[in-house]
Amino acid sequence: MTKLLEIYKCNVCGNIVEVIHTGVGQLVCCGQPMELLKEKTADVGQEKHVPVIEKTGAKILVKVGAVPHPMEEKHYIEWVEVVADGRSYRKFLKPGEKPEAEFEVTAQKIEAREFCNVHGLWKSS
Ligand SMILES: [Fe+2]
Repeated sequence: MTKLLEIYKCNVCGNIVEVIHTGVGQLVCCGQPMELLKEKTADVGQEKHVPVIEKTGAKILVKVGAVPHPMEEKHYIEWVEVVADGRSYRKFLKPGEKPEAEFEVTAQKIEAREFCNVHGLWKSS
């Protein structure tokens, strides 16, 4: 059974999917169950992954993280996602870009997530 907005990864081929409609079935890829990625909310090392949300009028700026995360070929933030008021927003990032994303969101309750290609899934605490 899946839940809305859960993110699953295939540990064989690297496919990553987000659930946009729940079902009772188990997600399978490359012949084995996909791994449900758990969002981490606290950094312990030097690198900072927890998204930081800054409100600027009708927009929000989501930075990864309190200290900018590396954006190198082999280690970078692949995307930043915001869920607010029943809408989801996502910006895909590339190496060399800033580890941040701006969205037009005025909702008060905002949750941000990001995916690091080395350290996985993180969300704002
Ligand atoms: Fe990382």
